[in-house]
Amino acid sequence: MSVTGLCCLLVLGLATPSARAAFGDVNLHGKDDLFEKMGQARVEKFEIENGQVSLDVLLENTQGQDEVWVLDFQDFHHSNNKSLQPVVRTDGGKLVAEHTGTCSSVFTTVPYHSANGFYNDGFIPVPPGNKSLFNTFQSNATLIQKGDMQVREDRLQFDGSIDTMFDCKTSDDMTIWQKQVTPETIEFNTTLYMTNVRPQGTSSNPEPAYVQSYAILYWRLLRVALSRFLISSTERLRPIFEYAIVRPVYLNDDEQYGFDRERAEVEIAFRTLTNHPNGSLISVYRVNSLTYDPADLLGNNKIGHIRMIPTRGCDLPLGVEDGTIADNQMTSSSVWLSSAEYSASKGRLNAQPIDAFSAGAWLAADANLNQWIQVDLLTLKWVSGVLTQGYILEAIVMWVTRYSVSYSTEAAGGLTTLVNGSGVPVIFEGNFDSQTIVSNYFDEPVLARRIRILPQEWADGIAMRIELLGCDAHTECHTDVNGTDYRGTVSVTESGETCQRWSAQEHHTHSFTPEDYADYGIGDHNFCRNPNNSTQPWCYTLDPNVPTGLCDVGAAQASCTPNVAANEPSQFYANYAPYCNLTEWENYCTQRWVFTLVLEVDITGATNRMPIDATGEFTFEFDTYDCPNNDRSNCRRLEIPEAIVSHEITLQTTVEVVDDTKDSPRIYLKKVHASDPSIDIRDGVQPGVSHLEPVTVDTHFFPLFLRDKLEMELTLFVVCVGNEYNSGDGCLTAPPESSYTAYVSPNFYYRLYTTPSQYTDLYADDIATSSQTLDSHTYIHASEIHRTIFTNKALSATSREYTISCVFRLVERTARRKRDILRRDVEDKIDEPIIVHQTVLFKGCPLNSVHDPKNRACICNDEGEEYSSETFKCVQSSPRILNEETRPVDNAGSPGESSDPGGKSDSGHDGNGSMSLHLPTFMLQTLICIFILRSVLI
Ligand SMILES: *[C@@H]1O[C@H](CO)[C@@H](O)[C@H](O)[C@H]1NC(C)=O
Ligand SMILES: *[C@@H]1O[C@H](CO)[C@@H](O)[C@H](O)[C@H]1NC(C)=O
Ligand SMILES: *[C@@H]1O[C@H](CO)[C@@H](O)[C@H](O)[C@H]1NC(C)=O
Ligand SMILES: *[C@@H]1O[C@H](CO)[C@@H](O)[C@H](O)[C@H]1NC(C)=O
Ligand SMILES: *[C@@H]1O[C@H](CO)[C@@H](O)[C@H](O)[C@H]1NC(C)=O
Ligand SMILES: *[C@@H]1O[C@H](CO)[C@@H](O)[C@H](O)[C@H]1NC(C)=O
Repeated sequence: MSVTGLCCLLVLGLATPSARAAFGDVNLHGKDDLFEKMGQARVEKFEIENGQVSLDVLLENTQGQDEVWVLDFQDFHHSNNKSLQPVVRTDGGKLVAEHTGTCSSVFTTVPYHSANGFYNDGFIPVPPGNKSLFNTFQSNATLIQKGDMQVREDRLQFDGSIDTMFDCKTSDDMTIWQKQVTPETIEFNTTLYMTNVRPQGTSSNPEPAYVQSYAILYWRLLRVALSRFLISSTERLRPIFEYAIVRPVYLNDDEQYGFDRERAEVEIAFRTLTNHPNGSLISVYRVNSLTYDPADLLGNNKIGHIRMIPTRGCDLPLGVEDGTIADNQMTSSSVWLSSAEYSASKGRLNAQPIDAFSAGAWLAADANLNQWIQVDLLTLKWVSGVLTQGYILEAIVMWVTRYSVSYSTEAAGGLTTLVNGSGVPVIFEGNFDSQTIVSNYFDEPVLARRIRILPQEWADGIAMRIELLGCDAHTECHTDVNGTDYRGTVSVTESGETCQRWSAQEHHTHSFTPEDYADYGIGDHNFCRNPNNSTQPWCYTLDPNVPTGLCDVGAAQASCTPNVAANEPSQFYANYAPYCNLTEWENYCTQRWVFTLVLEVDITGATNRMPIDATGEFTFEFDTYDCPNNDRSNCRRLEIPEAIVSHEITLQTTVEVVDDTKDSPRIYLKKVHASDPSIDIRDGVQPGVSHLEPVTVDTHFFPLFLRDKLEMELTLFVVCVGNEYNSGDGCLTAPPESSYTAYVSPNFYYRLYTTPSQYTDLYADDIATSSQTLDSHTYIHASEIHRTIFTNKALSATSREYTISCVFRLVERTARRKRDILRRDVEDKIDEPIIVHQTVLFKGCPLNSVHDPKNRACICNDEGEEYSSETFKCVQSSPRILNEETRPVDNAGSPGESSDPGGKSDSGHDGNGSMSLHLPTFMLQTLICIFILRSVLI
């Protein structure tokens, strides 16, 4: 019989549609009925609950047949050639454990034995052997009759941490997982091969033939960041939300080390508008004021570290990494093996070991509290922060988890411990792996010549790679009679000419550039300097006719004690605070702020598809500086209370593990907002929806791979009175007189169950429509969301709760060819409904008005007032003077704000410029969307 004939027998044998079979290298030797009687293998369960993963595989052991099931996360190695590592040796028939992956079901190497060996019905494998995954094997005593064969169900189980599965390797020591990472999703997949191997040939040479099927296992993590509130404590400063996005974090900051499942990077961007009546006020972020207050008090969510704060001046690398700081400027308490290879001067950020005997890091001889690494800057500098990394060389990894800092203005002698504003020594949170750079900023820069880092806690030993952040100290005091060491801030010549910046070639071209003359104090500034052995400091001037002029910088001193007061360190923050745009909105200084921080998200209790919430409030403090004429070199901090900006962000992490046969599409609400796109109006604690206020509902669907082929189509949008419909079939069970339908498509279909076994099929004809319709509903491919917009008119009558139900189906993307279809197993799942519940606050007509149901309008009580669809208030009906140029405009509108750094959106401004948020003085309403997925693909 031909191989084709065998193929057909096999397909009959594997009856379920989702089972797939592939041929091995079958050597028939006339045994064309070898696989005629064969049971199946399938993944029965793959779940995560409370952080524990269960994987159950059912194997049907056909009675009376010589066979063995091999489960492995790599293809069955089948060969007659020993060097290709066959799982079953042809010479002697041994089952070889080391030729399978670390998580296979070949627990130990077993010799061939024709009577009671591993091919025999009675053979019981004993997990885990020298494999690390499956920990239970159970046989079911009940035999099942299947046609003319009897099978026994054997069950292989794994119960344990997902980490165990993530550690699985192939026999070539490669990970079994493939990963795909997008900003919101991390998906790992692996293929579990289930191979039925049968002997043929002679008993002394039982050459195996095999048939293989497989299951694909997925581990997915979905993360969504929703911006909720952005509010300011003061009228002086108005925040405008731009975006909040969440990104994956890699171990050691390197994709090849894998994804850190318990950390998420959050980037928050917003603008501030500082009230700027005479053009001189700017806002300056107060260093280290950012705090995260998690809503879930029981969880262990917290800020892991700050990755980036907006540039604030005086935070330039001082030259450890790039070698500007020489080897002899770096010293330490001790050196491992007293070897130059591990000395302090090797401890430079991003240094790498060059061979097995080098370190590319400073390694202390001992791990105790007496260790330190020190940098002597040779001159006084402002030092404002420290960057650290640990050490990795093959299996040796070490890092410092906490450290303190001390400093001195002198070349020798005692040091001062760095303290916070309350005088308490600061302990910085350092590294958590060997490679990721962790930045720590001092509350205020310190003037220092020597900086010492003192490890307080460490992992496996003390090893560091460092960089210092800071800037030149501008001290007026100098000791050289010719002022070559002058580093002060005089920027006018003796004859009163203003100096040209050294970095500029405008007015006068010259060669004293910051690149070449940094050692002479030349930088991006216009302070007088003496870079050329002149008799005193000088500068180029802004007068085209006067090339240079000498400066009066005072007399040289015998010695200099640093005069901190002469340079208020926080001055630097004003100097370099983000650009202040005075033209964007009149009377405001607009500045843009981007913060990147890494949150530690506790996912130890992960349960399939149950979101883990790291929602919390991020608070930033801003000082106000007065910079006359917008001149940053001459700013003064105002002694007024700081402005506090709080930003509430919902951050949800959903973990799911699933095998391909149980994978199904799911729809999630991504965002629900009213006129202010920065505020997600879910969960009942938000400002409500006013009369005539548009409400936008953004939804998206998973898994991601379906997005190539499918899009969402809205089939029903119905609103009903009351919140008792916020579960089950929602508004579809509400009485007709208390619900209205804003949209029903001819494609609408829904199966309404009255009891678990009785149901009614609803179609479009069964739904009566109402007069209020949706503004728009569309699937936006660019951002992969479905967006529905409706303007609230009918919900303004009385203080009631309402429920909104939406029904969706998934359809093939319009531009695609028919029958270029999905995986069949997913297609089978597409009919299953998914229900999402949300609560939002709505407000109807304002208090001083009544709702006119006929015209769906708010009628203001006061004569001469009209309801405004801009302010959602009753206002004088005479045309308001509103200069669009001077009013912060709503420039929202780019799709997918919360995941699109380019998208901008506006917040909390109403027509008269008041920032008051619409306070929730109104009723609570419930919005649910019921999502039903139905396929047209058959
Ligand atoms: C066995 O496989 C190895 C490695 O691929 C190859 O070099 C060798 O020639 C093969 N031997 C035979 C007998 O095919
Ligand atoms: C054994 O198989 C029978 C029949 O399929 C089933 O009902 C029973 O639950 C199984 N027992 C175990 C322990 O899996
Ligand atoms: C598994 O992951 C890889 C990498 O992302 C992807 O290319 C492949 O399509 C995935 N396989 C399945 C069956 O999802
Ligand atoms: C200034 O003089 C010193 C000592 O004579 C010399 O080392 C240095 O190179 C000179 N600098 C310039 C810019 O000419
Ligand atoms: C100061 O400048 C004068 C004139 O160029 C020069 O003679 C003298 O050596 C300089 N002094 C120092 C300490 O460099
Ligand atoms: C300031 O804002 C205006 C208006 O948005 C814009 O056109 C201009 O490019 C901005 N200026 C800078 C330097 O970004």
